[in-house]
Amino acid sequence: MKSTPADQQTTRISIIILAAGQGKRMKSALPKVLHQIGGMPMLERVLTTAAALKPQKTCVVYGHGGEQVRAAFENMDLQWARQEPQLGTGHAVMQALPEVLADGVTLILYGDVPLISAATLSKLVSTANHGKVAWLTQLVENPAGLGRVVRDNLGNVCAIVEDKDATPAQQEIREINTGFVACPTDLLAAWLPRLTNSNAQQEYYLTDILGMAVAEGVAVETLHPGADWEVTGVNSKAQLAELERTYQRVNAEQLMNDGVTLVDPARVDIRGELSCGSDVSIDINCLFEGAVKLSRGAKIGANCILRNCTIGEASEVLPFSIVDGASIGASARIGPYARIRPDTTLGNNVHVGNFVEIKASNFGAGSKANHLSYIGDTSVGKNVNIGAGTITCNYDGANKHRTTIEDGVHIGSDVQLIAPVTIGQGADIAAGTTVWKDVPPGGLTLNAKNQVTNLDWKRPTKKK
Ligand code: UD1
Ligand code: MG
Repeated sequence: MKSTPADQQTTRISIIILAAGQGKRMKSALPKVLHQIGGMPMLERVLTTAAALKPQKTCVVYGHGGEQVRAAFENMDLQWARQEPQLGTGHAVMQALPEVLADGVTLILYGDVPLISAATLSKLVSTANHGKVAWLTQLVENPAGLGRVVRDNLGNVCAIVEDKDATPAQQEIREINTGFVACPTDLLAAWLPRLTNSNAQQEYYLTDILGMAVAEGVAVETLHPGADWEVTGVNSKAQLAELERTYQRVNAEQLMNDGVTLVDPARVDIRGELSCGSDVSIDINCLFEGAVKLSRGAKIGANCILRNCTIGEASEVLPFSIVDGASIGASARIGPYARIRPDTTLGNNVHVGNFVEIKASNFGAGSKANHLSYIGDTSVGKNVNIGAGTITCNYDGANKHRTTIEDGVHIGSDVQLIAPVTIGQGADIAAGTTVWKDVPPGGLTLNAKNQVTNLDWKRPTKKK
């Protein structure tokens, strides 16, 4: 019998990911494995974890409607095997075998079991690399519906029996098959063609190779996952939501272990990578998307959304603010109710207040826009004060234009800046001014206006 030599230096790894199931219970036009956990499609999570093992080949088995799945991962270096019709897990693996290496070990993963860890998979692979079949099993309270791990009197594994094929005595077994298995590829290739579908579901069960291993005297070793949620699969929207909560809880616990203050760990959601310096605190109902970095001492108020951004040291984002694609310096104060949009850089000690929207703009250190403004495509120097209700009119209906506001400028309330326009250093702009020409440094710029009062004025009244 051929097998992988135990002393092999580098492991040659093939990974087969089963994702052919239709996922009918999701009741969705979106294939099941494209539904997201923590903001990432389940299959992408599995592929990311798989990649950590540095496999030579990774093959995804897809089925009916799976073209959408293939299209979603077009740019990745993957093999694809179509399984049509779907005749069981053993049949699925068989479709993928021609696409992977003939030697080394093969690891079987599932597109709808997204949280399996690389650490658990590494253990399976290294066990298989010693010529054994490495099967991931789990002890559960309620084994209903799952394959049972049958052992002999000495405790050695002899078979996996599917729920529908199990005798009443076997149904009492609480050790179940998670589905994850690693096996020397040559053995797998020899066993799969010998599977039959003479069972309750008339399927080709992958699990039947375990019996073949035992019959041939190939060692079978069972391992357990590091955490129960690693092997939790998703079949319905309720299970998706439940696993999402588990994922978020685990992330929150990790953050708190790292010293982050979470006012309520059940009310923070991370859909991406959140990295935090020391003494960061996060109030309730915050959502973090993409790559977010919170520097030392940063404070995030309740109900904020932060996406692909950096918050500088000791800066504060006050409640109900959205920061998206922006970099914010140290000791800044953003919000409440601020919206900072992509391509924005705010310097140290910048203050942005309520109902201020900033897009594709830079603010130098110490500049402020405290109330009710739209600042778009604008370069703001240092120590500028932008009064309430100031609007940069950056769009002429066809093109966007830039506004430049130099250091030390003071802009009064309710000013319109019609871009392209430059306000020279230290200039003051009077309240209510419409600026459509460049302003020189210094001085006070205003639009000449009259104030008149008509004492004959009669306020309109409602017709009876
Ligand atoms: C399978 C296992 C069972 C285990 C359980 C864990 C077998 C025979 N049974 O049962 O021991 O306890 O998973 O959840 O392996 N798939 C395909 N093509 C197919 C059939 C399945 O790609 O023809 C994929 C599905 O998309 C799914 C996975 O394989 O991701 C498991 O399929 P499922 O039908 O859920 O298997 P179970 O009967 O639950
Ligand atoms: Mg299942």
